[in-house]
Amino acid sequence: MSIENDKDQKKRAHNVFQKISYCYDFMNDIITLGVHRLWKKDLIRNIPVESKKILDVCCGTGDIAIGMGRKLKTSQIKALDFSDRMLKVAKKRANAKNLKNIKFIHGSALSLPFKENSFDTVTISLGIRNTSDYKKVLSEINRVLKPGGSFFCMEASYPDPLLIRKILKFYCRVLVPIMGKIIVKLQTEYRWLDESVEAFLSKEELTALIKETKFTDVTLKTYLFGSCTLHCGIKGGGDGN
Ligand SMILES: C[S@@+](CC[C@H](N)C(=O)[O-])C[C@H]1O[C@@H](n2cnc3c(N)ncnc32)[C@H](O)[C@@H]1O
Repeated sequence: MSIENDKDQKKRAHNVFQKISYCYDFMNDIITLGVHRLWKKDLIRNIPVESKKILDVCCGTGDIAIGMGRKLKTSQIKALDFSDRMLKVAKKRANAKNLKNIKFIHGSALSLPFKENSFDTVTISLGIRNTSDYKKVLSEINRVLKPGGSFFCMEASYPDPLLIRKILKFYCRVLVPIMGKIIVKLQTEYRWLDESVEAFLSKEELTALIKETKFTDVTLKTYLFGSCTLHCGIKGGGDGN
């Protein structure tokens, strides 16, 4: 991708999330009929309990960071996003739950403001496909993870069975933008979210890219016929690697 395209995509993603921040959680529940909550719970269930320092990249309104903050009360969690409006919602939600172990940070996934080997675990949920350079994001995550640390990447994908894939594509391409238009008057933004799934890598391509970025023991788990995928990996160089 050229630098200009890269900048355009970053700006576009930023504008979309600034605009939809106030209705992001509400619309996610409607569009997925609440199923995204189950996927996210499963990601949180997988986090190693001994992780003391955790980073959630592209934290949005904080679903993953808040879930981890509630489960791992003695861990320090940092949650980063480039949309100040998404962060504002996240902070409000964390404060309402009186969570003191999460620090929200305004920053870019393409240039993480942390030193090498800082975190035991890094997560990114439904975020990497919205960034303009997947490889750069993965290598930044690898850089800030401690050797032997765990990485979790959850992302939307299209199902493998052809009929279900066609039905889901119709739902995302046609019905979701209409829902966006009728419910929150944001049709273009909800069309873009579908386009970003369409333009994203296949599960296999993402697996290959994660491995290329020096993660080992890469595994993947799919949900709902493959409409969502959780990739897990380990940063090499720890015990036994
Ligand atoms: C679809 S939301 C996901 C939010 C949350 N992680 C979840 O699972 O619900 C994607 C988030 O990624 C953020 N984002 C996209 N590109 C980014 C970048 N380059 N740097 C930091 N945040 C970014 C957006 O602002 C948005 O909040």
